[in-house]
Amino acid sequence: MPSLPDFKLETHFSRWEFKARHHLTASDAQSLSLKELLAMATEAERGAFENLWLGYTETHGAPELREAIAETYQRQSAKNILCFAGAEEGIYIANHVLLEKTDHAIVVTPNYQAAETIPLAICDVSGVGLDPDNDWDLDLDRIAAAIRPNTKLIHINFPHNPTGKIIARETLEGLIDLCRRHGIWLFSDEVYRSLGPKPERQLPQVADLYERGLSLNVMSKAYGLPGLRIGWIATTDERLLGKMERMKHYLSICNSAPSERLAIIALRNREQILARNNMLVRSNLVLLKEFFDEFPALFEWREPDGGCVGYPRYVGEGSVDEFTTDLVEQAGVLLLPSGIYKSDLGQVPTDRFRIGFGRANLAEGLAAFRNHLFRNQ
Ligand SMILES: Cc1ncc(COP(=O)(O)O)c(C=O)c1O
Repeated sequence: MPSLPDFKLETHFSRWEFKARHHLTASDAQSLSLKELLAMATEAERGAFENLWLGYTETHGAPELREAIAETYQRQSAKNILCFAGAEEGIYIANHVLLEKTDHAIVVTPNYQAAETIPLAICDVSGVGLDPDNDWDLDLDRIAAAIRPNTKLIHINFPHNPTGKIIARETLEGLIDLCRRHGIWLFSDEVYRSLGPKPERQLPQVADLYERGLSLNVMSKAYGLPGLRIGWIATTDERLLGKMERMKHYLSICNSAPSERLAIIALRNREQILARNNMLVRSNLVLLKEFFDEFPALFEWREPDGGCVGYPRYVGEGSVDEFTTDLVEQAGVLLLPSGIYKSDLGQVPTDRFRIGFGRANLAEGLAAFRNHLFRNQ
């Protein structure tokens, strides 16, 4: 079995995330402090947090947490939820439980790297590219053409990292029909769901629609609480959940007990937290539009449908890698160039960069970005 290659995005972040003055490519909404989150708790919830016994917890996740998570779905109850240490562990475990050496998987490109490198370390994988010339749409005919007799899993991610694309509901339903006809599992990374400028485009959660559907979600992105490291998979297939639970015994074993209590508080206040984060996203998108309108000779900007990252095209001189390297080294402004999203499964655009708009300090970062552009004119 081939070993996993370096995770390009995380390697880039290890170098720059806490060094660059302006993190303009974050994929999470503005975090809350512990104090702010605890201020939302009832007296009983605060007491449960402060008097918490710091022992191991249940591998599936605390029962109250799984109940609170299940309430965010239409057709799931606590028994359909398995918690993980972040979304990342969920991607790792689901691929390892579902795929064997002789299987084949299909993933969308460009992608959050784990979506392709984890299955590629197990079996054959095909990539189907979102089309930059057709508003990053997913072509179901291309998915159908990629299906082989041994295709076991299709991995999707909408709202999409890095483009912010959300496919149409009919496309998702068409994909589920295709999966059902061929007996294929559909792994849907929904970590950016509930966040973004176009709530009317929000898709239903795959676990609610399809008996072989897995919905991945996490406290990290829309809720802005990545430090909790609480993620989960929802599926109606309890046998599959059982197998994934057994693999979790080899990894994190259980979640962090304080994080579980804090995630319960956040989920019970989800309307308030999501409203705050969506307001921030909308006001940041106004700033981004103004910024990109100022520099039409350098950038082409398409407003994303969902999430808090977008993928503008760089049309200035030189490569986007040179441009983003100069920007972080000279002005302390961190972006992610498209080289980070290079895929082993096919051509992906090479003239893009990822920009984030979920954080509170965007105006400051854009001012430094603007100054850099003027200085280098
Ligand atoms: C699409 C996608 N899935 C999963 C993850 C992993 O999330 P976490 O950091 O909560 O494990 C990320 C993080 O950037 C992501 O963008």
